[in-house]
Amino acid sequence: MIQQFDKRNKDIKVWINGELLQRDEAKVSVFDSVVQGGDAVWEGLRVYDRKIFCFDEHLNRLMESAKSMDFENIPTLEYIKDAIFSTLKANGMKDDTHIRLTLTRGKKITSGMNPQLNQFGCTLIVLVTSNIRRNSPLCLDSKIHHANLINNILAKIEANHAGVDDAVMLDLDGFVAETNATNIFMIKNGTVYTPFPKACLPGITRDLIIEICNNNDMKILEKDISLTELYNADEVFTTGTMGELARVVEIDKRKIENKGGVLVQLQSLFRKLTETEGEGLTF
Ligand SMILES: Cc1ncc(COP(=O)(O)O)c(C=O)c1O
Repeated sequence: MIQQFDKRNKDIKVWINGELLQRDEAKVSVFDSVVQGGDAVWEGLRVYDRKIFCFDEHLNRLMESAKSMDFENIPTLEYIKDAIFSTLKANGMKDDTHIRLTLTRGKKITSGMNPQLNQFGCTLIVLVTSNIRRNSPLCLDSKIHHANLINNILAKIEANHAGVDDAVMLDLDGFVAETNATNIFMIKNGTVYTPFPKACLPGITRDLIIEICNNNDMKILEKDISLTELYNADEVFTTGTMGELARVVEIDKRKIENKGGVLVQLQSLFRKLTETEGEGLTF
């Protein structure tokens, strides 16, 4: 399903390096590393009922990703938190909100791949709105939540051409990694399975599902999952901050039977968390 323009975002303000700008004015330099090489890290966060869900987890991953990418002058946590709160406040957004947080290596003194050309510090952007292999750690560690998403975008284009919602991406050994935008889980005979986080992002929602299973006596295992296993699962679902837990009904024209009811149980446990957990808004 393609997302539609949300009229509430018509006059949205975007925070860029200390300034809150109208959406049409919110721009980064063509010399910014994100334009030059997708050289940025990012998070998508959600606000449910005046609380930012998994706030610390998202900010920790952003900081760890930036450190792994060897960014210099990374803004402090307090600075980033303040930027997010200011943006939400300026937009009067307290509920049902998606936040797009991007930290780039910053502006380069000239075009080029070398990070040493970045001499202006990081650029922090906060937005408030909406059969390509997944990289192996040999190429690019999927634990970095970097903004260089070309292989995921190519996979999504394949999905578009196939007239389906998203693409399952495999790792270099042919095992399931994740989809182009979400983590993936399957359920077979009451056990929940998800791929090892070798070639997938260790998603925050993925971690929550593992935690929910462990806390509720539901059997969960990380393992190498083949496409055949996925086709023959009782239930398959994806996870992500944006789409939460979404049921998969068909993969490569094989219908997923969706029997067992484990996903419904997980969705209801997840909903309880979003209702009670999160960092309260300060305005
Ligand atoms: C490639 C990819 N996989 C999975 C996810 C889901 O991660 P999370 O649950 O932390 O939103 C994302 C979200 O940004 C993603 O980009």
